[in-house]
This record gives sequence, structure tokens and C-alpha cells, in this order.
Amino acid sequence: DSFRIAVFVGSLRRESYNHQLALALAGMGAPGFSFEPSRIDDLPMYNQDDDAHPSEPVRRLKDEIAHAQGLLFVTPEYNRSIPGVLKNALDHGSRPYGQSAWAGKPGGVIGISVGAIGTAVAQQHLRTVLAYLDVPTLGQPEGYLQHKPGFFAPDGGIGPDDTRQFLQGWMAEFCAFVRLHEGV
Ligand code: FNR
Repeated sequence: DSFRIAVFVGSLRRESYNHQLALALAGMGAPGFSFEPSRIDDLPMYNQDDDAHPSEPVRRLKDEIAHAQGLLFVTPEYNRSIPGVLKNALDHGSRPYGQSAWAGKPGGVIGISVGAIGTAVAQQHLRTVLAYLDVPTLGQPEGYLQHKPGFFAPDGGIGPDDTRQFLQGWMAEFCAFVRLHEGV
């Protein structure tokens, strides 16, 4: 068995907590799982006029989705929603009409913010979009994470024992959820 997971990070910030979280999660996957970061920073702003002649980054995005058995979204919350850069990628992958790359791919949604509700509202928005795109998402456990000093260990892992154990459990459930959709 081998399962390729396309990873989408909703922040372009160099020191992004969500980027760091995505790297830490990638190290906690079940055996047989590989995690491939999918670039979204070089996608043009979506324009329906370009559907007939997609640029190279758009073709690459759709190709990476097509070759993935699962999708992992690790995103901050921007103004109680998902960052525009992530919505832009979701829109690109969904078009041209009838040729969405997303449909049927199982997904996981998680994120970290400095705010106390830990991206809960952004995740809810993202789940709404993914439901429309026919991406079934892991319902439980939910992962709402608040960044505090020491959240990330110096080696890039998760600092607090309880949080690390929680995220290991989350990844186990996510990988099982992806397996469940194998061949569906
Ligand atoms: C934020 N931040 C934020 N945090 C939150 O919990 N809820 C929110 O609605 C927002 N809104 C918001 C809007 C914009 C435009 C920015 C730049 C930031 C703060 C956010 O949690 C913080 O910047 C994180 O560090 C962003 O994640 P990365 O970039 O570290 O992955």
C-alpha cells in the first residue's frame, strides 16, 4: 500500500506556524503514507477566462491533486475565514466546470492560530467549501490549536507531550479515514 497525501498550507509566511505544523504532522503519518507539499503561492488569481488555457502552476496543482489519495489542509484563520490564497487554490482545482480535481478525495482539516479558538471558524468555512467540492472530511477528532511559546520543539516536533499525543492520534485517524476511501 502506498498513500500519497497532497498537503495544502494556507499561509505563505516564511515563519508560518501552520507550515511548521504541516511538517510536524508529516512526520507522524502511518506507515505507507507520504506527504507532498502542494505549492499554492505561484498560482495566478483565478480568472474564468483562463479555463481553456491554464498556466503551468494550475496544471501542476490539478496534477498533484489527481495523483493524491488524500488531502491535508493546514490553515490559519484570517478574519474568521480561510486565507484568500487557499480559496484561490480551491477555485483553481475545481474548474473547468465538470472537471474538478477535488471530487471524491478524502480530506483532513486542521490549523493553528494565535487566537484562543484555534482556527475553528476558518475550519468551519473550509468544511463548507469542501463539502460542495465533494471532498469528504474527517469529522472527529477536530484539531483546534493555539500557538504559545514552546508549541514547537527546537527539533521541529511538537513541544508539549499532551499536544504531541493528541496530534499523533489525529494523524492515525486521518490516515485510517484515507484508507477507508481507497478505491471509492
Ligand atoms: C490573523 N490572525 C487571526 N487569528 C485568529 O485566530 N482569527 C482570525 O480571524 C485572525 N485573523 C487574521 C487576519 C489576518 C489578515 C492575519 C494576518 C492574521 C492571526 C493569525 O492567527 C496569526 O497571524 C498566525 O500566526 C497566522 O498563521 P501562520 O502564518 O503563522 O501560519
